[in-house]
Amino acid sequence: MKYPVSVILFFIVFLVGCSSPEKTFLGVYEGKPRINPPYITGNYPESPFLFYIPTSGERPVVWSAEGLPEGLTLDSEAGIIKGKIEKAGNYVVVLTADNKHGKAMEKLTISIGDNLLLTPPMGWNSWNTFGKNLTEALVLETAEAMIKNGMRDLGYTYINIDDFWQLAERGKDGHIQINEEKFPRGIKYVADYLHERGFKLGIYSDAADRTCGGVCGSYGFEETDAKDFAEWGVDLLKYDYCNAPQDKQVAIERYTTMGKALRSTNRSIVFSVCEWGQLEPWTWAKEAGGHYWRTTFDIRDRWYTDQYSHSDNGVLNIIDLNAPLAQYAGPGAWNDPDMLVVGISGKSQSMNANEEHAIGCTPEQYRSHMSMWAMMASPLLSGNDVRNMDSVTIATLTNPEIIAINQDMLGKQAERKVDKDGYQVWIKPLTDGSSAVACLNKIGNIIDIKLDKNVLPELNITGDIRDVWEHANIKAKAEGLDVSLSPYECKVYVLKK
Ligand code: GLA
Repeated sequence: MKYPVSVILFFIVFLVGCSSPEKTFLGVYEGKPRINPPYITGNYPESPFLFYIPTSGERPVVWSAEGLPEGLTLDSEAGIIKGKIEKAGNYVVVLTADNKHGKAMEKLTISIGDNLLLTPPMGWNSWNTFGKNLTEALVLETAEAMIKNGMRDLGYTYINIDDFWQLAERGKDGHIQINEEKFPRGIKYVADYLHERGFKLGIYSDAADRTCGGVCGSYGFEETDAKDFAEWGVDLLKYDYCNAPQDKQVAIERYTTMGKALRSTNRSIVFSVCEWGQLEPWTWAKEAGGHYWRTTFDIRDRWYTDQYSHSDNGVLNIIDLNAPLAQYAGPGAWNDPDMLVVGISGKSQSMNANEEHAIGCTPEQYRSHMSMWAMMASPLLSGNDVRNMDSVTIATLTNPEIIAINQDMLGKQAERKVDKDGYQVWIKPLTDGSSAVACLNKIGNIIDIKLDKNVLPELNITGDIRDVWEHANIKAKAEGLDVSLSPYECKVYVLKK
């Protein structure tokens, strides 16, 4: 019996489709809606509240919310909830997103009280690629790009202006002066523009007279600057420690002063402590009002260096330094192993781009960097030029399954269970009782390992397993799971309870 080619082709496509239904993974703006994390958000009472509901799926999407507390309203076409809540408490809201393919529902907990940032921050920062060459146009274009490429709908909502938005000298009126060549309409204009699109704005200063780049810092003017930031509508302050004394007590005092100044504005401003881990901020930054704190010197665009220093660093060096600090991380207070370098590929204007220590990573190394930052419950602040990304970089930054691990509400930083023979195994417990397991190949050879009871005594290796980069459900044999790691690969699995 003869069939026409089209019928045969149809059956081939059908069979391939049927044999791996779980592998199907659609782009951010295709198919049914899916509401992405975070599923919990913190805000101070009587302080402006803004939350964009990150949602994948074909547009148009219409959102609705059941149980919104008094004081909040939802723009059902923009997906933005805003307003002000007076009373502290946890408000559980049921969110729905509808499009022509179907409907998605998720619960969002709005936690009104003293805590912010109940999952790690996600967004973008100007420093790693652009250094001092940041402008209003760059920031607005970045926001538009993050809407188009789907980053905002995967939860990347902070857009952070780093060093060099300000002039070197404080104004005669006692206020920091905005560099008007770069920001001709001021910072408030940028904040309003971002807020209208559901983003939040971060800014940068330093606990000394001068920032790392040598422009005006906030030391001695903390209250004035915090008030200005709040009036402009700033949502996050990264506070650096250049030109300040290398003394723990002084650092605690200076960060506490700014922490209090921010808190007393009663705007929900996240406080990022950027002391690079030299004075053990994990032991004091939270009390100083910090929501996350750097644990290492600046990341460079490279995999590894054997000369770790202030001016040289690599993804792997940072992983090793951040590993022992898991116990200090939790909702509202995170270790910060610095921003992502995914996709920079040697094109940084700030990280000594032409020198040996900013040579770039391979796509595999960038993917492993992303995996490990997700596992370590680290801030996911991309630092590449998101206006011009290749498809591999987009795929690395917008994998919803890896992001869900990072944004899990339990807020645990993964613990390293194995570190030998060129590879590491890490475990991150998740809210629903599952565990994320990462197997990281640190070196340039293929490594074959077996995940079994000896390696993971506390986990159920024979149950359902999800491979979060393959987007596939898999099963281990009774003896365990054979894992073959290509050079520098990090495989990440979720082991169901
Ligand atoms: C320090 C910080 C970096 C960046 C620069 C800006 O080095 O650690 O992240 O903010 O300052 O000058």
